[in-house]
Amino acid sequence: MKVLVTGGTGYIGSHTVVELLDAGYEVVVIDNLSNSKEEVIDKIEEITGKRVPFYKGDVQDRELLKSIFEKENIEGVIHFAGLKAVGESVQKPILYYSNNLNSTLVLLDVMSEYNCKKIVFSSSATVYGDPEELPLKETSKVGGTTNPYGTTKLMIERILNDLYISDNSWSITILRYFNPIGAHKSGLLGENPNGIPNNLMPYIIKVATNELPILSVFGDDYETKDGTGVRDYIHVVDLAKGHIKAIEKTNKSNGVNVYNLGTGHGYSVLEIIKTFEEVNGIKVNYKIVDRRPGDIASCYADPTKAKEELNWIAEKEIDEMCKDSYNFIKKNK
Ligand code: NAD
Ligand code: UFG
Repeated sequence: MKVLVTGGTGYIGSHTVVELLDAGYEVVVIDNLSNSKEEVIDKIEEITGKRVPFYKGDVQDRELLKSIFEKENIEGVIHFAGLKAVGESVQKPILYYSNNLNSTLVLLDVMSEYNCKKIVFSSSATVYGDPEELPLKETSKVGGTTNPYGTTKLMIERILNDLYISDNSWSITILRYFNPIGAHKSGLLGENPNGIPNNLMPYIIKVATNELPILSVFGDDYETKDGTGVRDYIHVVDLAKGHIKAIEKTNKSNGVNVYNLGTGHGYSVLEIIKTFEEVNGIKVNYKIVDRRPGDIASCYADPTKAKEELNWIAEKEIDEMCKDSYNFIKKNK
């Protein structure tokens, strides 16, 4: 099967391309490189021994997309392309709504035109807003997103549901990711955002490598085991493997299926810092500061549905996630 991966040079996309190639899929990548580098294609080749066709361009570019579908005989799509920085989305809502929604609309329209109706979409646990129940099930209430980024995910889920209602020959899998961290074992692929990171693990790494002086822990007065925020961190390779199971499922049956991809375990900020220090033998300076606006106390998945229907579970533990995250940065400093 030939799969178009949008956003395929990005963090999760690149790891997924590796897993797809290893599983015998043919892969074509489109990415506008707004948050990644073309050299990722070389790294993927170094890991897999396979060179994937790469189209540098925007998913909103209808003519480019049509030319890819003309040329490549695409049978299914995994749609990662999108902007994802929560804080930036509050500052630049129009950019986020236009990029994330338009790219999806143009993609779906072109897919229809070429009768390619199998799609896996990158959604997020952010669609649950402030959870009413924990662990989060796919049937838990969605809504109450607190930023434009999260709202784009909610809107796209709705668009995909409406699309299926209009035409039930579509096969749509929506994956709600929890908190991906870690990197490929080789140290060739990983996440290294420019500037000051928003997310916990990239920030810890910048402190560990002395690029930033100290980590601010956002609040220690939550109702959690030690007062700091609790999240379901998942190794990016486990997450990538979930996409192979999802595309298999998408291949077999029509409908809209939603799955949580998480481990089911919640770790606090302090537990992550401690584990990172222990497994890497390095100190991470931190201070407790006020809560970050918009943050929730705890968020973790019930991953049972993915286990039962996709035969997928996250296998890697938190130690390995912390080790692999740091290994990537050491090799790419
Ligand atoms: P990433 O930024 O590393 O990858 C996204 C890729 O999409 C980038 O390479 C970027 O250049 C590309 N891109 C963005 N807009 C594009 C467009 N219009 N046309 C072509 N390419 C475009 O992010 P990631 O962490 O790999 O996330 C992948 C997807 O998963 C995103 O949709 C993100 O919202 C979603 N997601 C991520 C997380 C997370 O914590 N990383 C959590 C939940 C959901
Ligand atoms: N945190 C700190 N200091 C930091 C950064 C984070 O204490 O410098 C804390 C947060 O308060 C939170 C935890 O670390 O308790 C995790 O924060 P992240 O920013 O890494 O992750 P979030 O859970 O806030 O959000 C992430 C993505 C969202 C996505 C969500 C669910 O940024 O896009 O996971 O998948 F929607």
